[in-house]
Amino acid sequence: MKKSIVLLPGDGIGPEVTRAAAAVLRECAHEFSHQFEMHEFPIGGAAIDATGTPLPAETLDACRKADAVFLGAVGGAKWDSLPVGKRPESGLLELRKGLGLYVNVRPVKVLEPLRGISPLKPERLGDLDIEIVRELAGGMYFGERGSVTEKGEERAWDTESYSTREIERIATFAFSRAEARSRRLCSVDKANVLSSSQLWRRTVTAMSTVYRYVKLEHMYVDNAAMQLTLKPTQFDVILSSNMFGDILSDAAAALVGSIGLVPSASFGSGAPLFEPIHGSAPQLVGKDAANPIGSILSATMMLRDAFGLSLEAEWVEQSLLRVLGGGYRTPDIAEAGQRAVGGSVFTELLREEMLRSLEHAERYGWGV
Ligand code: NAD
Ligand code: IPM
Ligand code: MN
Repeated sequence: MKKSIVLLPGDGIGPEVTRAAAAVLRECAHEFSHQFEMHEFPIGGAAIDATGTPLPAETLDACRKADAVFLGAVGGAKWDSLPVGKRPESGLLELRKGLGLYVNVRPVKVLEPLRGISPLKPERLGDLDIEIVRELAGGMYFGERGSVTEKGEERAWDTESYSTREIERIATFAFSRAEARSRRLCSVDKANVLSSSQLWRRTVTAMSTVYRYVKLEHMYVDNAAMQLTLKPTQFDVILSSNMFGDILSDAAAALVGSIGLVPSASFGSGAPLFEPIHGSAPQLVGKDAANPIGSILSATMMLRDAFGLSLEAEWVEQSLLRVLGGGYRTPDIAEAGQRAVGGSVFTELLREEMLRSLEHAERYGWGV
């Protein structure tokens, strides 16, 4: 299989975790005789420094032509004083918009060897395996905003707005996802306060007659945040607006032990985008302390969901579980008595395990 992949390392730990994902993709290409052409382009703060803009036209162009895009992370203190619209984060938002990506899927799943690092008691954590389907191209992120100074006082605003069509297209994805899983969908909103949420709830409710086999539930976002912490296994697929999904997904990540573990995939009209959900973690830069797992699992989402290469994805994920099973941990997930290693060493251990298991599979067959 021949695919062209654009890599957008970005800022902070972005380049480190992108290297991990690229190493895994390269290994897949090599061992399974695929051709993955990978090209790097600047985005975020790195792009501001190099070109004066967080999403250079050349970067967006390359992404538009690619089969898939991988992003590390953007942002950092150096660019924090820039106004909204000119910041590194705006580059990512423009990219999502530019590629027409309105779906963002964030799977939050407990990895068996990491059960012990959850802040939840084992009986509450259960076999946590949920998917947050986050609307990605609308809402407050892209609504009208502005600021004025009145009588010497500044006022600024951002607006949350959704159209029926925008809600329907993301809900269609969430319903289908729920149909393919345990047929439970929880739509999160704030319909007791926001009129955009009232439209959201009405629209999703109307669609449930089409998806008759999906059990639809609605929950206010404040309660959802609490229920997620109290009893997360009550959820299967969670559907949310752009803003609520951003917040709930970081909260959900904490349940499995680290934000460094959670991947994401975004879909829409253009090339799909894969990125870990964490940020540029400036305090970890240069320490080789970033957990590459969210990034690696974003790469396996690319293999499976963009290229249909489920055997390759499975190979990486099973190897990853064995490395964790061997007690290797990056600092964020290290427990007493385990082998703390840096992110780059962890990735190298994974690569070695992948090769070892492939040799084993070639000799004795897959599934042994
Ligand atoms: P963050 O996700 O960078 O960090 C939050 C916490 O999680 C920190 O304690 C950090 O050390 C830890 N962490 C994050 N990734 C980790 C990893 N891979 N391994 C181990 N620990 C990890 O969020 P923040 O501190 O709120 O934001 C920092 C910068 O990142 C800001 O500029 C923000 O705008 C940006 N940001 C970017 C993205 C993105 O590019 N997708 C996402 C979120 C935040
Ligand atoms: C995320 C991030 C981004 C978002 C920022 C960096 C624009 O927090 O992907 O979760 O809010 O979508
Ligand atoms: Mn976020």
